[in-house]
Amino acid sequence: MSLGSRKRYERPTILKQYSGYMNKVGNRSGLAPTPDIDGVSIEKMVEQFGSPLFVMSEQAIRMAQRRAYRVFKTRYPRVQFAWSYKTNYLDAVCATFHSEDSWAEVVSGFEYNKARGLGVPGNRIIFNGPDKSEEDLKRAVNEDAYLHVDHFDELYRLISITESLGKTAKVAIRVNMDCGVYPLWDRFGFNLENGEAWQALKRIMATPSLKLVGLHTHIGTYIMSPDPYRVAATKLSELARSLQTEYGHKIEYIDLGGGFASKNTLHGQYLPAEGVVPTIEEYAEAITDALMQHATSPSELPMLILETGRALVEEAGFLITSVIANKRLADGRKSLIIDAGVNLLFTSFWYRHKITPVRDPGMVSEDAALYGPLCMNIDMVRESISLPPLNLGDLLCIHHVGAYDMTQWMQFITLRPNVVMVMQDGTVELIRKAETLEYIREREQLPRQLSKNNVVG
Ligand SMILES: Cc1ncc(COP(=O)(O)O)c(C=O)c1O
Repeated sequence: MSLGSRKRYERPTILKQYSGYMNKVGNRSGLAPTPDIDGVSIEKMVEQFGSPLFVMSEQAIRMAQRRAYRVFKTRYPRVQFAWSYKTNYLDAVCATFHSEDSWAEVVSGFEYNKARGLGVPGNRIIFNGPDKSEEDLKRAVNEDAYLHVDHFDELYRLISITESLGKTAKVAIRVNMDCGVYPLWDRFGFNLENGEAWQALKRIMATPSLKLVGLHTHIGTYIMSPDPYRVAATKLSELARSLQTEYGHKIEYIDLGGGFASKNTLHGQYLPAEGVVPTIEEYAEAITDALMQHATSPSELPMLILETGRALVEEAGFLITSVIANKRLADGRKSLIIDAGVNLLFTSFWYRHKITPVRDPGMVSEDAALYGPLCMNIDMVRESISLPPLNLGDLLCIHHVGAYDMTQWMQFITLRPNVVMVMQDGTVELIRKAETLEYIREREQLPRQLSKNNVVG
């Protein structure tokens, strides 16, 4: 046996076994290593781009989007996805979705401008959200975007803008409703049951400068059953039917927002998410079945728009992190400090992420608390996770972090790291540069009175 192929030395470990619990005999660690992402060595990427490191997989995004489209399109004739920018608005990620024919779904002037900057035309942008400034609305009207009105004040503002510009805006309303998801997400849009939604529609129908093109809802996020979507699709179809009966007006689309659950397991979930969340087919079946039942003929069917976020991008993202230290806590429990904290992994407050070693971990594992590098007590990535012995510098791969982490991350105590994308051709591209001290300070201004000479004396 050559020296290079020798197995790594594992120091003997004595672990307390609790009778009646699953132990190392009954419960193998199951921690298969993750040496690469789409065939590209994680160690090599870290050598080149440093640690921690976010890695996105172009292929995983495309596969997820194509699969979702196929699942809906085989059940319903007119389907359009609109990429939910807030889920991950890195340009490379959005551009990948757009090249898969997704429109943009944005909820702020910033996101709108980002989409336009990527070359998305106004007539492929859905503008949602409660906070659209006068300037945002004017730009969107001028560029023929789809405006999803959230509240009456926005509606009145839009009426006055379109009248003063002498232009017609394409509008939908966001509707909130009881579809069995509690607590109700009634803070966005107009409520259906109390008649507010109908009132808003009547106002729009009475305004020549507004063209009512759609009905929209977003019933929540990580919805663990397809049934609420069936209810939502039914209720919006009935609303569309009322518009037809009352005004002879036919809407162009029904937009059911996002919210499909993903493969990450929530903290409170007993079983792994993979086994308990519905498949995309089940959501599609519920939605398309409800829409089909309400159409008198195929030509009557409105276009179905979906703003799916996390279920499309979560699995395409990985966070690679290095061990900074091994420690024993006061009660003897093992703990590890890694170089990625909750400032980068916002979703660790909700999820028990799958975390695997990058190298072969050996057979023994031990429960450990996983702490981030921040000098703050809240920085706990996982209260307890079974991990093999790891040394300083060993790498871990945190899976399924493509959704919301790269938009809700914080520059806090440390700087945000590089983000790379493994491209379909096997190359690795830097898609967001690590922050530097200069980048942070560039935004700051020191009052003259506090200039260096005055402070240092
Ligand atoms: C209006 C709207 N559409 C789509 C989404 C994406 O949701 P998800 O990531 O749960 O699919 C959100 C997220 O909150 C949203 O507010």
